Amino acid sequence: MSKIRLCGGKILSGTVQISGAKNAALPILAASLLAAQGESEISSVPRLNDVAVMIDLLQHLGVLVETDGQETIYLQAGQLSSNEAPYQLVSRMRASVLIMGPLLARLGSARVSLPGGCAIGSRPIDLHLKGFAALGADIVVGHGFVEASAAQLRGATIYLDYPSVGATENLLSAAVLARGTTVLENAAAEPEIVDLVRYLRAMGAQISGEGTDRIEIVGVPELRGVAHRIIPDRIEAGTYLIGAALCGGEIRLQNVEPDHLRPLLAKLAEGGVQVREDEDHLLVRGTRRLQPLDVQTLPHPGFPTDLQPQMMALLTQADGASLVVETVFENRFMHVPELVRMGADIKVNGRQAVVRGPTELTGVPVAATDLRAGAALVLAGLAATGETIVAEAHHIDRGYSDIVGKLQGLGAQIERIPD
Ligand code: EPZ
Repeated sequence: MSKIRLCGGKILSGTVQISGAKNAALPILAASLLAAQGESEISSVPRLNDVAVMIDLLQHLGVLVETDGQETIYLQAGQLSSNEAPYQLVSRMRASVLIMGPLLARLGSARVSLPGGCAIGSRPIDLHLKGFAALGADIVVGHGFVEASAAQLRGATIYLDYPSVGATENLLSAAVLARGTTVLENAAAEPEIVDLVRYLRAMGAQISGEGTDRIEIVGVPELRGVAHRIIPDRIEAGTYLIGAALCGGEIRLQNVEPDHLRPLLAKLAEGGVQVREDEDHLLVRGTRRLQPLDVQTLPHPGFPTDLQPQMMALLTQADGASLVVETVFENRFMHVPELVRMGADIKVNGRQAVVRGPTELTGVPVAATDLRAGAALVLAGLAATGETIVAEAHHIDRGYSDIVGKLQGLGAQIERIPD
C-alpha cells in the first residue's frame, strides 16, 4: 500500500503522454480467449494493476502470454486448460467477469466466482446472465459461483434493460461463435465497445452497428488471433484536462482521440475553458474565471460517470452553484466528504450534489475509496494550499499508469510515500 503526497499551488505546464484505455484493454484481453488459432499481439496496453490481474487470469485459463516489457502483449489461446475464474482472482478485479462470454463461446461453459460489489455500487451482472440465457445457455448460481453452459449457443435478439458496458461486451464475445444471428438492442455505445468490435472483426467476426444502440452479430465457426492497438484512454485524458483547468497553466496531451471526449470538451467550453484540438493531441489552458455548470452522467454519448468525481473537484472553483447528477451508479459521491474536508462547499441529496464555489481548498490527509474518487482528490490537492496526503493510493494505480511521474512531468510537486 502507498500514499501520494503533494503540495498544491503549482500551475501545470508541459506535455503528457496518454496511455491506452484500461476499459478497452480489459475486454479485448478477455476476448483473446476466442482465438482457437494464431497469436494476438495487443499493443498500447496500459501498465496497470488491473491489466496484470487480467493476464494472471488468462494464464490460469491456459493462455500463453508474453510481453515485450513495454506495452505490447502476445497471447496464444489455442489450448485452454480451465473454464473457471477463481475467487482469489475475481475478488481482485470485478472485470474478470468479462471472460464469461468468451469462455462460454469457446468451451461451452464458464464458471466464475461471483464478483462482489465495490465502493461505487452493487455492480450486479443480471443483464449479462439474462443475455447468456437468451443465447441458449443454462445458468446456475450457487456457493458464490455463477456457471453458464451450452453445447451450442444460438443467435437471439436480446434487449438490454440498461445499456450496460460489461453486458454488451460479454454478449458480443459470446455471440460471435453462436449459430445464427444475434441482435443486441439498447446496447452500450462507448468507444471501448467500438474498439472491442474492431478487434473481433479483425479476428474474423461478422459484426455491424457498433457505436449505436443496435449491434448485429452473425456467428462464425472460428476466430484467429490478430494484431490490435488499444485506443487512447479518454478518462485518463479527461482527468489531465480537468487538472489543467483546475490548476491553470497550459498542457499538451499526446495520444488522444478528441471525438471520444466530446461530452467533456463541451462542458469545459461552457465553463470557459478553451481546448485546442489537433489530429492526435489537445492543448488546454487553465482559466481564471470558471462558470458554474450542470453535469449529468449518462451512458455514452452522455457525460461519462468516470469523469464525475474529477469534474466535481473542478466545480469547487466555479463562480457560483453547479448541479451534479450521477445517474449511472448508486453510490458514486464518496469523494464528497473528502473534498468537503479540504474546504469545498458540496451538499448531496440522493444522486444529486450542489457544488458552490469558488472555495479555498486546503491540503489535508484524505483517502481514496475508488480509482476515480482518488484521482479527484489528487486534482483537488494540486489546487489546494499546503500539503495533501492521499492514502489508499492503490485504488488510483488501478486506472492511472504512473500518475505521479506524469504529474511531476507537468510541474506538480507530488511524490509517492510508503504507507
Ligand atoms: C464499465 O463498468 C467500466 N469498467 C466502468 O469504469 C464504467 O464506470 C462503467 O462501465 C460505465 O461506463 C470497465 O469497463 C472495466 P455497466 P461496467 O455494466 O461494465 C448496472 C472505471 O472507473 N448494471 O455499464 O460494470 C450497474 O449496476 C470503471 O474505470 C446492472 O444493473 O458498467 C450500473 O449501475 C468504474 N446489471 C450500471 O448498470 C448488469 O448486469 C452501469 O454498469 C450490469 C450493469
